[in-house]
Amino acid sequence: MNTPLPGIALENRRLHLGVCGSVAAYKSVEVMRDLQKAGVLVSVTLTGSAARFVAPLTFASLGASPVYGRMFDDNAEPFAHLEPGRCAHALLVAPASATTLARLAGGFADEMLAAQALAFPGPLVIAPAMNPIMWAHPATRRNVAMLRERGVIFVPPDSGPVACGDNGEGKLASRKEIVFAAAKALLEQDMAGKKVLVTLGPTREPWDGVRVWTNSSSGRMGAALALAAYLRGAEVYALAGPGVPALPEKVQRTDVNGARQMFEAAVDLWPRMDFGIFSAAVADFSPVPKGPEKFKKSAAADDISIRFTRNPDILATLAQDARPEQRILGFAAETGDLEQNARVKLHAKGMHLTAANLIGLPGSGFISVNNTVFVCDCRGREENWPTMQKTDIAWRLLDWLLTL
Ligand code: CTP
Repeated sequence: MNTPLPGIALENRRLHLGVCGSVAAYKSVEVMRDLQKAGVLVSVTLTGSAARFVAPLTFASLGASPVYGRMFDDNAEPFAHLEPGRCAHALLVAPASATTLARLAGGFADEMLAAQALAFPGPLVIAPAMNPIMWAHPATRRNVAMLRERGVIFVPPDSGPVACGDNGEGKLASRKEIVFAAAKALLEQDMAGKKVLVTLGPTREPWDGVRVWTNSSSGRMGAALALAAYLRGAEVYALAGPGVPALPEKVQRTDVNGARQMFEAAVDLWPRMDFGIFSAAVADFSPVPKGPEKFKKSAAADDISIRFTRNPDILATLAQDARPEQRILGFAAETGDLEQNARVKLHAKGMHLTAANLIGLPGSGFISVNNTVFVCDCRGREENWPTMQKTDIAWRLLDWLLTL
């Protein structure tokens, strides 16, 4: 997975995972592992057919607890069909077979997973996998429509070749989409109805036909923020520079190259947004382009000069046009007096919240998974945070932003 989940929010949340009979059943092991890495506690139920494809012991050995099998097994708890509903915060069925969809739509309780789903009061996420003809069948369509109407969240199957050799819609969705949907279902939707613009990654300014002016921003901080806002229920619009990691499909991502392209896209989106999160390492200056040809060294003396022109400051421009209720989070990459520079940037650029870090701290910052930040806001609140994963910093920054 490219963008890891925020452990700070998911630690000790409980997910119940239902696995149905499908060649894709083995993929549910990887889904479970991704969630466990973020601290999620996972329990599992395998249907009878699922246990033909992947062993209950596989899940148990990897830390799933408990792992349920058939109802009325000699060693089954008498109320095993009610337990996930009492303990887990969300139920994920991945892969979900046509039979299980029919059972859930019909409200049957004739098998352990169906009974547990019927007795589950929390959010239900379903990732179906089956042959494309079965997926397109009117019976399946009707079952899916009924479940959707009841608020069930679907991670729709992908199109492509399936195990039997057919081609079409029916392949289990990607692991990343299933994991993001499950994580979202485990979390409070405190940004539901909010629209968030996130700029992230580097910009790339062309000079000649092959050379560019750029920087080594990984886009990790911005990706963590876009993911965190999405997981909290926001509608997220990401303006991503080159090389930015994968984001959930439901994040409206626009890939851009240059600072001006990012600026124009941001200006266009801004009036509709509630929050602006500006994490991109935007080139402040672009080289005056030489043209589409490759610049030959034979055309130059031993040294050359390149002229640069100033790019618009995206954050500062949008802050000037902000409505009073719009809120802005910006970053400050600094050398020298971190706290003082951060305070100055907060006010000079019209941010409501600033996260500032010192450039050059080993294992922290620009291309690292961690960062060490000083945070200050427009109400005078200030804190130095210890070195943390960017995913956790993102979560905390949104906590602050929501109180401003
Ligand atoms: N920013 C922006 N557009 C720019 C430059 C910066 O939106 N053309 C945003 C960054 O995304 C960040 C904040 O402004 O949130 C501060 O960026 P930073 O590089 O720390 O500072 P600058 O404003 O560029 O000033 P300086 O380089 O002189 O420190």
